[in-house]
Amino acid sequence: MVNIGIEKEVSLPHKRFRLLGKEIHLYRELSSTNSIARQMAISGAAEGTIVMSRSQSAGRGRLERQWFCPPGKGLLLSMIVRPKIHVQFVPQLTLLTAVVVAETIKKATGCAAGIKWPNDIFINGKKVCGILAESSFTRAKIEYVIIGLGINANLDTLHLPPDCQETSTSLRLELGQNVSRIKLLKQFILSWDEHIRGFINAGHPYLRSKWIENNVTLGRNVTVNKGKNSINGLAVDISEKGGLIVRLTDGSLQEFLAEDVTLSKKG
Ligand code: BTN
Repeated sequence: MVNIGIEKEVSLPHKRFRLLGKEIHLYRELSSTNSIARQMAISGAAEGTIVMSRSQSAGRGRLERQWFCPPGKGLLLSMIVRPKIHVQFVPQLTLLTAVVVAETIKKATGCAAGIKWPNDIFINGKKVCGILAESSFTRAKIEYVIIGLGINANLDTLHLPPDCQETSTSLRLELGQNVSRIKLLKQFILSWDEHIRGFINAGHPYLRSKWIENNVTLGRNVTVNKGKNSINGLAVDISEKGGLIVRLTDGSLQEFLAEDVTLSKKG
């Protein structure tokens, strides 16, 4: 897509409809659904507004990575939320979204999806979805959070970038048939509404129990990559800050907040 600027992109022709109480904006092609959702949030779009696109020319991942998905093959979605929670709990929204997506995939397809801390969803040891939450807040107040997710729905192996073909998968590859993206979207909305309510009412204990139910990280040996250094240990818990607590080889516990983590192969 030619770079036409975010304001103009927002106004590109697109479908607009309501689904389960949410306003959906469905585009053919955008730079990034997160960028457009952010622009809409700045212009005052309502809580729960969802931006979707068949394709993205500049999809973003965590740690400044790119996110690739061929047109029409994935569920590329960004939702604007303005939760009434303390600013310090914002990182937990990524973990909450991971719970929602793991449940969405299980309920909509029957695939055994699990969370790899902090923002990946895995099936059979391979990544099927990535989550990118981006927020704007002052010291006291959250202005908005953009919850972005890319689910590999109907991709074949050759649709994946060559360096991801061993490590990523899609729902189609796992099931041997296409999945309905609208079914995934509906289940995502239902699961989000349930779990954000639970989190707002009961806080970290609610999130922790749901996260533990749905994760594939705890109890695994992990390598935490910090620049050129890496640290090995056993993943034992998640913290109130949304961090991963790792027992290091000397027995001490260390919390990691935003690092890149690799799960070791199951023995
Ligand atoms: C990651 O695994 O690093 C996160 C990937 C998040 C990708 C999604 S696709 C929809 C939304 N728009 C973006 O530009 N990124 C997110």
